[in-house]
Amino acid sequence: MHKNRVMIMDKRTILLMLDPDEQASVFDRVVAVDAGADVLFAHGGVKPSQVQGLVHGCIFTRSPKDLQRTAIFVGGSNVGQAEAILDEVHRAMIPQYGLQVSTMLDANGCNTTAAAAVRKASDHMNFGEKKALVLGGTGPVGSRVALLLAREGAKVILGSRSKSKADLVAKTIAQRLSNTSNTQAVVPVEITNEDDIARNVQGCSLVVSAGAAGAKFTSVSRLASLGGIQVLIDLNGVPPLGLEGIEPTDCARERSGLICYGALGVGGFKIKLHRACVASLFEKNSRRLEAAEIFELAKTLGR
Ligand SMILES: NC(=O)c1ccc[n+]([C@@H]2O[C@H](COP(=O)([O-])OP(=O)(O)OC[C@H]3O[C@@H](n4cnc5c(N)ncnc54)[C@H](OP(=O)(O)O)[C@@H]3O)[C@@H](O)[C@H]2O)c1
Repeated sequence: MHKNRVMIMDKRTILLMLDPDEQASVFDRVVAVDAGADVLFAHGGVKPSQVQGLVHGCIFTRSPKDLQRTAIFVGGSNVGQAEAILDEVHRAMIPQYGLQVSTMLDANGCNTTAAAAVRKASDHMNFGEKKALVLGGTGPVGSRVALLLAREGAKVILGSRSKSKADLVAKTIAQRLSNTSNTQAVVPVEITNEDDIARNVQGCSLVVSAGAAGAKFTSVSRLASLGGIQVLIDLNGVPPLGLEGIEPTDCARERSGLICYGALGVGGFKIKLHRACVASLFEKNSRRLEAAEIFELAKTLGR
């Protein structure tokens, strides 16, 4: 190269992937590559006590103006452990000196799945004045579906086999809604059988089944017979499905007069959203992508 010629080249984008599982998720790595991350540093078996050094490796190696080309993704299968890691990540950054990078949490796909499901439902209704029932509402996915629906103005009935568990989750969601006018939007209920569902679904336009893989709640035909429901979404893709009669591939498919989505019907958009989120991490160094921010991004994507 001529000695006076200055080569201007963008630094490569680096995604530091922190995963509490023994082996870092292949799923998350594939999506990161497809999202355009140039280099992945994927760490498995990560403990909160190890996070500070890993984060300092990110923030002290590039000048603040280049830090948007480094980002951190926290994944894995255990959402609670991932949240503890994310807390440490933010504790280790020094934003007052510009020493921070963008972050995203999507352990077990909880945020992208919930955001994708709510985005799909939004194709059919405005949530203000609407009521929704979330079955399996205490799980990482269901609780985020409830949060997102409530943020959009819906009233949400959050179902659990245990009232005390539902109470706890509803309280946490209310805290997260504290900057909205809908803080009391999530109503916790105990649901242990189909009669409980029939009673609690009265007045609901939307039912989201977010129970554990293989947990069956009821059927499309039973819900259709109750009247008033417009949209059913079953995120459980492992037979038996949560709502019998929905096929996993259903994507706005009409069944018994209701618009139905299955796990794979939502899953395609979920992966598109996950890719868009990872790509957006490299647009600036201060993004924090969790459920609400991921849903805002979902609103900007076509189907
Ligand atoms: N489509 C996609 O792309 C995608 C991505 C991620 C996850 N998923 C699916 O989304 C669903 C929710 O995920 P998650 O991680 O939140 O699930 P999870 O934590 O395994 O379970 C969610 C809730 O289901 C309830 N539950 C557990 N066993 C049950 C049973 N035998 N009968 C009735 N309810 C039961 C529990 O609530 P209570 O104890 O309070 O009743 C639990 O909190 C799962 O089916 C998962 O496979 C789909």
